Amino acid sequence: MSSVVVLRARDHALVLDATGPRLPRVLHWGSDLGPLAHEDVARMRRAADLGQGHSAFDEPMPVTISRDPADGFLGAPTVSGHRDGRAFSTRFRLEAITADDRTCTVTGADDAAGLRLETTFAMAPEGVLRIRYRLTNVGTDAYTVDDVQVGLPLPAQATEVMDFTGNWSREVYPQRRRIEHGRWVREIREGRTGHDHTLTFMAMTADARFRAGSVWSLSLAWSGNSRHVVERLADGTTHIGAGELLLPGEVVLAPGESYLAPEVVAVHSSAGLDGAAGMLHDWLRARPQHPRRPRPLTINVWEAVYFDHRFAKLEQLADVCAEIGVERFVLDDGWFGARRDDRAGLGDWVVSPDAWPQGLHPLAQCLADRGIEFGLWFEPEMVNPDSDLFRAHPDWILQVDGRVPPEWRHQQVLDLSHEGAFAHVLAQIDAVLTEYPTIRFLKWDHNRPLTDPGHLGRPGVRLQTLALYRLLDEVKRRHPGIEIESCSSGGGRIDLGIMEHCDRVHASDNNEALERQRIQRWTMQLLPPELVDSHVSPSPGHTAGRAHGLTFRLITALFGHAGIEWDITQTTPEERAILRSWAEYYKANRVLLHSGRMVRLDLPTADASAHGVIAADGSRALLAYVQEGVAVASRPAMLRLSGLDPDARYRIVEVRPAGTPRYWQIRLPGWLQDGVELPGRVLMDVGVQPPILCAEQATLFELTKVTA
Ligand code: GLA
Repeated sequence: MSSVVVLRARDHALVLDATGPRLPRVLHWGSDLGPLAHEDVARMRRAADLGQGHSAFDEPMPVTISRDPADGFLGAPTVSGHRDGRAFSTRFRLEAITADDRTCTVTGADDAAGLRLETTFAMAPEGVLRIRYRLTNVGTDAYTVDDVQVGLPLPAQATEVMDFTGNWSREVYPQRRRIEHGRWVREIREGRTGHDHTLTFMAMTADARFRAGSVWSLSLAWSGNSRHVVERLADGTTHIGAGELLLPGEVVLAPGESYLAPEVVAVHSSAGLDGAAGMLHDWLRARPQHPRRPRPLTINVWEAVYFDHRFAKLEQLADVCAEIGVERFVLDDGWFGARRDDRAGLGDWVVSPDAWPQGLHPLAQCLADRGIEFGLWFEPEMVNPDSDLFRAHPDWILQVDGRVPPEWRHQQVLDLSHEGAFAHVLAQIDAVLTEYPTIRFLKWDHNRPLTDPGHLGRPGVRLQTLALYRLLDEVKRRHPGIEIESCSSGGGRIDLGIMEHCDRVHASDNNEALERQRIQRWTMQLLPPELVDSHVSPSPGHTAGRAHGLTFRLITALFGHAGIEWDITQTTPEERAILRSWAEYYKANRVLLHSGRMVRLDLPTADASAHGVIAADGSRALLAYVQEGVAVASRPAMLRLSGLDPDARYRIVEVRPAGTPRYWQIRLPGWLQDGVELPGRVLMDVGVQPPILCAEQATLFELTKVTA
């Protein structure tokens, strides 16, 4: 049995002391310490020995990966549960451990509680550490699992915690606070990931920002209820943790049964928030299922036509799409059953003969004729009480006996772990995709939280989440190559669990450029741009109601999986020419946009922001300079770039494929005329003078490495 485990990659290392007899203790979680000899770890253990303080356990027990209350751990333990009130506390002993350079599996047993705990740690080459617990009931009666939480110790220099909050149309608002004594807990109890879910949960040094400082980040790969915690105990011990939030009695293990907790994905970076995001992006990009074909320029017709599905209008839209160069056309809500508004039809996934007398064939043909791919909206987990499905099977909804959940957008949640309901939805989706083989993209929506989520009288969120994953996989198995977008009233289901089954997310129903600057900036703390939709909105935006110029909207939409959500039949020829130029620019640059390293600059004042991508080989970069509010200084601070090769020379030029922004000056900075060539070190240490822009404007800079 190995008594020392060191997993390391990039800027990230985990060092475990596994001398037993208890489960391993984390000696270090954080920056890479370089190669460590066996003896070094023994010395680390010695160097970390506290000795014996007053008013303390006579034999201080190290905090292990099972954080056992029976050993004196006084914070929230790794495993909580009971056998009808007994076996309420744990003390695991080390039974087996196997490890290589990248993975480690630890098996622990608690004979008194009748439990076995298996923990796996897997360090990917990109520096992403995945941690997973499996708890097995080896006793003779039922064991109720209340909680299984991953927890990792934080060093004293991690003094702050940052997480995200949000609601519909206002997703991913960052909030940051000092870590104090006690618990800071973020919980989701709405049965889906939720708009208020913290996309990542990060501890950090006080100086951490986009491009500097240290970050310890956790993300839960799960689309149901969740809990993220940072806890500082009275003795100063501090942990950061994450896990599924189980409802009372949700998981009861019969003898021999196991609970496999959702995976927790951890990264550490000493290169700031961008460093942490970069590791996650690289790891996601290395997955075999990561979408690799160029991300098609997409139109979603929701904000163009809403429920008004007239073929003539959609054909007109398709014509303008062809003129602009749109490559994918997504028909949104309203094509099925009695769905002429949001009061009826969910659950009846059959093309409506009222809206579509000849089926979707005319539209499929119209798109094929124009070389545009076809995409379709579904909301498979939902049912309107006014639907054939509900009339036939009113019992197929999640509910508690004798009580029907309050409606939300006139809908209830279908109980997908009911085999009949699952089979019904699968068969209907399958039939549509079989009849219309040119549909290559699904927008998979989920527009309400789960209330009273009972399956046969017991809490059913976990079962529902697993059934959803199964359904997504089965649709993909039957229709290879089909891509699926995760949407939940916009960004209500964005997490690493759903990303194992989907190909991109709808980050928000708020497509307004100013809000999207923030939403995209922070959604990309977790996901690389090619997985995040970024659609050009109408002006004024339909959700936030503000008006913005086309250039600002287009530059905002460029940095993601770009698209349009706007009735472009109403555009002027001039606007269409700019849309076409932007579309060409997106296509010419999407390899860079979707494979480069993300950069978010740390600007001195909050009125402006700057973000972009640098090609993996450092040869090119694309940067947006965004004036979000009225400029606080009449001489905006020099724009100091980041992430360049200091010893290379670069040419930086302003480009206008999306039209010209509104400047707020009589004469522009001289270098804007034809660019300037400077060493990377100068661009990073001194920078260039950005123009003075009016509020809610943006401009684009291209950087090219100059080769001798
Ligand atoms: C949700 C989605 C929208 C749109 C509507 C359709 O709100 O987030 O993008 O698809 O449903 O009803």
